Amino acid sequence: MTDNQLTDAFTAVHGGAPDGVWAAPGRVNLIGEHTDYNDGFVLPIALPHAARAAVRRRADDVLRLHSAQADGAVVEVTADQLRPGAVPGWARYVAGVVWALRDAGHPVGGVDVHLDSDVPTGAGLSSSAALECVVAVACNDLWDLGLGPVEVGLLAQRAENDFVGVPCGAMDQLASTCCEAGRALFLDTRTLTIRQLPVDLAAAGLRLLVIDTQVKHDLADGAYAERRSGCEKAAELLGLPALRDLDLAGLPAALDTLPDEGLRSLTRHVVTENARVEAAVEALLAGEPAALGPILTAGHASLRDDFLVSCAETDLVVAAANAAGALGARMTGGGFGGSVIALVADEDAERVAGAVSAAFAEAGYTAPRVFTALAAQGARRLA
Ligand code: GLA
Repeated sequence: MTDNQLTDAFTAVHGGAPDGVWAAPGRVNLIGEHTDYNDGFVLPIALPHAARAAVRRRADDVLRLHSAQADGAVVEVTADQLRPGAVPGWARYVAGVVWALRDAGHPVGGVDVHLDSDVPTGAGLSSSAALECVVAVACNDLWDLGLGPVEVGLLAQRAENDFVGVPCGAMDQLASTCCEAGRALFLDTRTLTIRQLPVDLAAAGLRLLVIDTQVKHDLADGAYAERRSGCEKAAELLGLPALRDLDLAGLPAALDTLPDEGLRSLTRHVVTENARVEAAVEALLAGEPAALGPILTAGHASLRDDFLVSCAETDLVVAAANAAGALGARMTGGGFGGSVIALVADEDAERVAGAVSAAFAEAGYTAPRVFTALAAQGARRLA
C-alpha cells in the first residue's frame, strides 16, 4: 500500500484529498511480558507491519471512519456523543482516541479517516494499538497539539483502557509511538524512562522469526484482567506499591508470606521477568545478541509454568523451534495463542521454520505464518 494508493482510497470514500498520511506500527516484545501493569520493564521492537491512515480535519465535530479491513461501510459518530461503550467494532479504537484527547482537554474535532493496516489481527502483535496510535499522531499533528511520543502513546492507552475497556498496560501503545528503527525500546513503565538500544541481529548472523500460531483462545480477555488483579493483590499483601518493588534477592522471603500458590507464582513470574529484561539489556549493550536466546526460553517457561498464559500451540512452537536449533524462543504479547518469537542463526532459519510447520501438521493444527522481524520506526507522518 503506497501513500498514493491510500490517498486514492481516501478520495473514493470521502471525496477530495486528505490533509496527510500517517503510519503507526505493531510490535513484538523481546522480553518483559505482563510486567507493564506491574510498573516493570519491557523491551519491544516495532514491526514493519503498520496501520496507515489518510486523515482530514473537518470543520464540524463529526467523525467519518472507514477501514479497508472492514465491510465497506463508513462509521459516522459525533465527537460530543462519544461515550465508552457507545461505538462497536474496529471504529471504537479510532473514536476512543478522539474521546481520550478531548477528555484530556485537547480541542480535537471531527475527522474523515481512511485506514489500512497490515498488522495481523489476533496475533499478539498489537494491531489495535497501531490503529489507536496512528489516529493519535494524526490528530496531534492536525491540531498542533505539540504532544511528544510518550504523551501520545499514553493517550492511546487511555482510549484502550477507558473507552474500549481493555485493562492493558502501556507497552503496546508506547512501542508503537516511541520505537526507533534498528533499536529495541527499553522502557521503565513506572518512570516512563526510555533507552533506545541498538539491536543489530543481522551483523551477528542472527534473525528473529515471528511465528504466528493463528490461534486466539477465548479466555484471553478475562484471563488478562484476572492476572492483573492477582498481581495487584499480591503487591498489596506484600505492602508494596507494585510487584516492581520486589527484586530477586527479596523474592524468597516475599513468597513465604503470600497465602496461596496462585499469588506466589504470579509474583515469581513478574520478579524474574523484570530480571530477565535487565539481563537482555546487558546482552544488547555488550553487543552479544545471541545471549538473548536462553533468556527468551526461560521467559517462556515462566509464562507457561508460573503465569499460566501459554497454550498448547505456543508451547509446541517453542519446543519445536528449540529442538531444531533455535537459540531460544518464547510467546510474545498477552498469551493464550498469538505469536512466538524465535532467535535463530541465519543458516538455521529455514530448518527451524520447517520443523515448526511439521510439528503443527503432525498435531493437526493450522499451518503457522512465519516472518522475520526487523526493528522498524515508530509512528510517523508519511505524507
Ligand atoms: C498485552 C497488553 C500489554 C501487555 C502484554 C503482556 O499485549 O496490551 O499491555 O500487558 O499483553 O506483556
